[in-house]
Amino acid sequence: MMNVLVAGGAGYIGGIVSQLLIEAGHRVTVFDNLSKGHREAVPEAAAFVRGDLAHPEDIAAAMRQARPDAVLHFAGLTEAGESMQQPARYFRANVSNTLNLLEACVNAGVGRFVFSSTAAIFAANDALISESSPISPANCYGETKLMVEKMLKWFHAIHGLRYAALRYFNACGAVGPRGEAHDPETHLIPLTLRAALGLRPDIAIFGTDYPTPDGTCVRDYIHVADLGSAHLKALDYLDTHDTITCNLGNGAGYSVREVIDAAIEVTGKDIAIRETARRPGDAPRLVAASDLARRELGWVPRITQLPDIIGDAWTWMRAHPRGYQP
Ligand code: UFG
Repeated sequence: MMNVLVAGGAGYIGGIVSQLLIEAGHRVTVFDNLSKGHREAVPEAAAFVRGDLAHPEDIAAAMRQARPDAVLHFAGLTEAGESMQQPARYFRANVSNTLNLLEACVNAGVGRFVFSSTAAIFAANDALISESSPISPANCYGETKLMVEKMLKWFHAIHGLRYAALRYFNACGAVGPRGEAHDPETHLIPLTLRAALGLRPDIAIFGTDYPTPDGTCVRDYIHVADLGSAHLKALDYLDTHDTITCNLGNGAGYSVREVIDAAIEVTGKDIAIRETARRPGDAPRLVAASDLARRELGWVPRITQLPDIIGDAWTWMRAHPRGYQP
């Protein structure tokens, strides 16, 4: 049993991982400013501290309450497209605020840190992306996450902070009462399902002239339950290892058009498609090789078929058409 502080535990992935941590017997304190997260997504069995990573005194207070053995850090801005319009916001939220959290971890003697990194640090690649593939973010968002990976390296070297940097590919799906509810929503699968529910007129395809088989961007969609299990394995791994930086994906690439087609199939609804211009900052193809996570963490993704993943998201969306709003 560990005391775990989960920064961003009211968010989509953080809430689900908090629940998994509790089920595994850990004592969880969620720290979140609720700017993006939802109080409803925080498990009942978790303590909740409302606070902001921009304020070191908020973090120090949460540390005193949680006395964490480990900190999991999900709090951040996540949208590649938005980051290309508001870079300063992204560098502040994702780099500067993470630095506050890392300093607080050192001050409080926290031994382990698990960080939500991203596929967006990589250059687009026609081959599967391994940890040694070329790194070159196509957007500011990816750059911010890469900067944190670099800070982690030095915090380990200088302060001995043990860490896991988990590079998520495209998180999707839902687990029980928790699912994806962003405002505004920008992600492909929830937006497509909103169109299926009739909550929007159509789904836009951002660019049909990419150098991919059908001209639309290709991504690796990974179920949030599988991302979750990787966090528990990473925490255990840091019992006996100093650091790990690894990719978390399925290894299967689906184009935007294929995702929409699968959603039409799963929902049985007509979904109108509108082709538009490219969205700045989108890499043509990002698909993971996750051999390192499998080998080192013993991680095995369980829900790997796109229709099953979309099906879970669909079940959640039908039950929560307004997200967490009553
Ligand atoms: N897309 C559309 N229409 C939409 C929304 C998205 O065509 O209405 C396209 C995007 O252009 C992109 C693909 O669908 O090609 C996936 O877009 P998302 O916005 O769902 O996801 P991203 O790949 O841009 O980014 C997501 C997360 C990041 C993470 C990244 C890793 O938002 O945090 O996956 O690949 F880093």
